[in-house]
Amino acid sequence: MSLSVHRLRCTGCGVRIDGAQAQSNFRCVECSDLFEVEYAWSEGAVWPEGLAERGTVYRPNPIALKHLWQERKSSTMAVDQSGVWRFRELLPIVREDRVVTLREGDTPLYEMPRVANSLGLNWLLAKHQGMNPTGSFKDTGMTAALSVAVSRGFTWVACASTGNTSAAMAAYAARAGLRSLVLIPEGKIAWGKLSQSMDYGATTVQLKTDFDGCVKVLGEIVKRSPVYLLNSVNPYRLEGQKTPAFEILEQLEWQVPQHIIVPGGNLANSSALGKGFAEMKHLGFIKRVPKISVIQAEGANPLYRWMQNGGEGQLQPVKAETRASAIRIGNPASWKKAARVLAATGGWVEQVSEREIALAKAEIGAEGIGCEPASAVTLAGLKKLVADGRVGPEETVVLLLTGHTLKDSEYTIHFHRGDLLTTEELAGQTAAERAAFARLQREPLVLDADVDVVLRALEKEAGQPA
Ligand code: F0G
Repeated sequence: MSLSVHRLRCTGCGVRIDGAQAQSNFRCVECSDLFEVEYAWSEGAVWPEGLAERGTVYRPNPIALKHLWQERKSSTMAVDQSGVWRFRELLPIVREDRVVTLREGDTPLYEMPRVANSLGLNWLLAKHQGMNPTGSFKDTGMTAALSVAVSRGFTWVACASTGNTSAAMAAYAARAGLRSLVLIPEGKIAWGKLSQSMDYGATTVQLKTDFDGCVKVLGEIVKRSPVYLLNSVNPYRLEGQKTPAFEILEQLEWQVPQHIIVPGGNLANSSALGKGFAEMKHLGFIKRVPKISVIQAEGANPLYRWMQNGGEGQLQPVKAETRASAIRIGNPASWKKAARVLAATGGWVEQVSEREIALAKAEIGAEGIGCEPASAVTLAGLKKLVADGRVGPEETVVLLLTGHTLKDSEYTIHFHRGDLLTTEELAGQTAAERAAFARLQREPLVLDADVDVVLRALEKEAGQPA
């Protein structure tokens, strides 16, 4: 990775530009669509002659790279210990000495036997991106885009966020010695996330609006001030966020799962994973790609609505409302990219209710894994896909758990205390759901500091199903 030879291709009109020429809002000047990073080996790349002679243009060799990537796991170099930069041959966007890393990536792929069993699936897996340094999948994208900010000489970076992007950006900026500006919707992000951006030293601004309003304000700020935009419209973010696709394949010994299920908010992650799997296929690492499905919360479901209306024309933004605050987004920037991934892989979009999210989150917790509410939409959505036969028992499914359970402990505590959902939200509950809620809810017992009292409580508990 001595040279960073890449270009940006507009996903709308196909125009190619040099990375350094992108506008501050990363929109195409011709058609205002979003860019993606293109290398000489990318599918359909149009590559100027001069560039091809600069020595980095080669077609990656899957056999050699599989070995090299494994070998790097035992290296002591920071770039090798990163689960993003370990794959650096496929994201040559910065010089190695410019990389800012917190040793992100290389997250576990867990089995979920109890949930699989209850759904009648043979094998269900969870790729836990909450096990990243700042507790969410955003770290994989942030190491990539922030390293680009450093190589372009920026001293300020900024993002609008529902909490996880800001936590990741603040941490990586601090590591690099850059200043960072965070715009978040006031009162609408989880405390854990807010505290992170403060802890990592960001200039944290709570705006009296929602996430979509924060995006608008930031759009103007980056036009008027030399700050580098680190929202997921920045195509370099997606280069980092594609690497979990490589990890999943590696962890499954290059057997391709049938299905990957991702939460949908601003819709960048589904796009990034789609790009990752497509590159693996194009380069000959695998012969087919998995289906990629996106799950949205019912109250923040613009892509779901667009699909229901035939999947044509422009997406209609919605006024978003859900307790899964990470995905409370009504006007997703990357919806066209995500729609292309769904079409290319044969995946679906589903929506799930607040009640379904709460139950799925508790079930993931009860596996000893845990995740934040936005991540639990994946399991809630999978249940729907299984129920109507879109996912069969023999299919290998991987749920992308995007954030750690500690990101939003308030939600978890309310669930277990039984005061998370409103009466209206609980109204349509089936008997089976009611029983599942009762089985999973673990309200803390407040007892006298007396051994006998505690033992009596233990006996009572032991008489209940686990
Ligand atoms: N899950 C979590 C935990 C998230 O934080 C987000 C997005 C998503 C899923 C959705 O991913 O936007 O790529 O579709 N969080 C952003 C943020 C918007 O600001 O932290 P997406």
